[in-house]
Amino acid sequence: MSDKGSRGEREDTSGPYLVSLLNEQGYRQEAYEIVPDQVAIIKDTLITWVDKKKIDLIVTTGGTGVAPTDVTPEAMEEVLEKEIPGMAEAMRAASLQKTVNAVLSRGKAGIRGRSLIINLPGSEKAARENIAVVLPALAHALDKIQGGTSDCGVG
Ligand code: MTE
Repeated sequence: MSDKGSRGEREDTSGPYLVSLLNEQGYRQEAYEIVPDQVAIIKDTLITWVDKKKIDLIVTTGGTGVAPTDVTPEAMEEVLEKEIPGMAEAMRAASLQKTVNAVLSRGKAGIRGRSLIINLPGSEKAARENIAVVLPALAHALDKIQGGTSDCGVG
């Protein structure tokens, strides 16, 4: 989410970083988009990706902070059916070891339908540090969200 990025005035490096990281982990890219910091557009994009495209995992970057334009969490409130507070809390807690500004990210994680949506802060550094925290839990999370019946507590 970025006003400047959506106008072509700022190069997105966190998105391509995440695509390549997740590709290496075996995830296949279905969609990529830079959208402006507007609740209605963010909400419509996420709902289309979940309800129509049935995308399993959506990772967003940017718009989680405290600037007047930052509205990613507000859009998430209109999209999510269930929150997963532990994911967002774990990212913030681990990020505090990197920068005190971690407290400024209001990013959320949660579920709509059978999709997992995770907000990361916008800089490539912040995106890299945050995704690293939840990456090990993604496969199990996606399995459970999609109705997998494998036992928990293994690994
Ligand atoms: N978390 C980590 N791990 N590393 C960072 O550099 N930057 C912080 C924070 N979280 C940062 C981080 C900063 S400076 C801001 S303003 C907030 O994320 C929100 O970023 P966003 O508005 O780009 O989403």
